[in-house]
Amino acid sequence: MAIGSRLRHVVESQQFSRPLLEELLDRADAMKKQPHLFSGRLVGRVMAALFYEPSTRTRLSFEAAMLRLGGQTMGTDNAREFSSVAKGETLEDTIRIVSGYADAIVLRHNEEGAAKRAAAVSSVPVINAGDGPGQHPTQALLDLYTIRDDLGHIDGIRIAMVGDLANGRTVRSLTYLLSKFRDIRICFVAPPQVAMRKDIKDHLDEHKVPWFETQDLDVALPQVDVVYQTRIQKERFTDEASYRAVKGVYRIDASTLTRMSKEAIVMHPLPRVDEIAPEVDSDPRAAYFRQARNGLWIRMALLERLLG
Ligand code: CP
Repeated sequence: MAIGSRLRHVVESQQFSRPLLEELLDRADAMKKQPHLFSGRLVGRVMAALFYEPSTRTRLSFEAAMLRLGGQTMGTDNAREFSSVAKGETLEDTIRIVSGYADAIVLRHNEEGAAKRAAAVSSVPVINAGDGPGQHPTQALLDLYTIRDDLGHIDGIRIAMVGDLANGRTVRSLTYLLSKFRDIRICFVAPPQVAMRKDIKDHLDEHKVPWFETQDLDVALPQVDVVYQTRIQKERFTDEASYRAVKGVYRIDASTLTRMSKEAIVMHPLPRVDEIAPEVDSDPRAAYFRQARNGLWIRMALLERLLG
């Protein structure tokens, strides 16, 4: 776990201190501006990517980050089917084995708490690349980087988090990081069935971060600098009827943009289904493709920090 500015495993956003966050963001910025200067930093190091759930951005940006730093990668997609998990091997045993082959393990798992279990038995750093509806701390790092890069500051921002907040590991991790900054205000926009969970609201209260919740996106839109849209996560619902009850509840389209500030941005961790209309993509306020690209720089900075 992290102690001050030391970083061993990356399991949850609460580990990061503000100075460490700023250091990582600055390093990612330097890497974005002059990537060639960092091309040999991790020569001879090996990263294993163990993905028990699907991924495009996290898996490939971690691999690209390692390769651009001169390191090598190995791993498995769909680990529940293509690794010895299919024969009944426990997560703990898999991690014990892989930590003997690799210098770091990037783990995406379907169960909340899996990264913590993995870190407890691993002899090399474990990076949580999403644990069910738990956390996705490296997504939150790239989200923070994108906010600073697009808006020029993090202190003082007003953000609306929209959609499936109960199951949204990205919004949970981002909220923890934002609570380390000054004068943040958060609006949770969700139907009651997928409202933000109590642990996050309690954390904000403890850290004196003002927040409110509403089901009406139009209440939030004119007030915020960031609209952080999320997908309703069909895979987290136990029955089709519950999913259908909230599916499509918030959709950002050209008309939604007219109710936002001209300086505000629209973020989304992606993938999207139908919650942002394609017509929004050409608006300069659509930040989600820039945001995904920023994953490369922040993951390079993180890997260098852990392995360099
Ligand atoms: N944002 C994100 O985690 O995307 P992937 O599921 O494609 O990795």
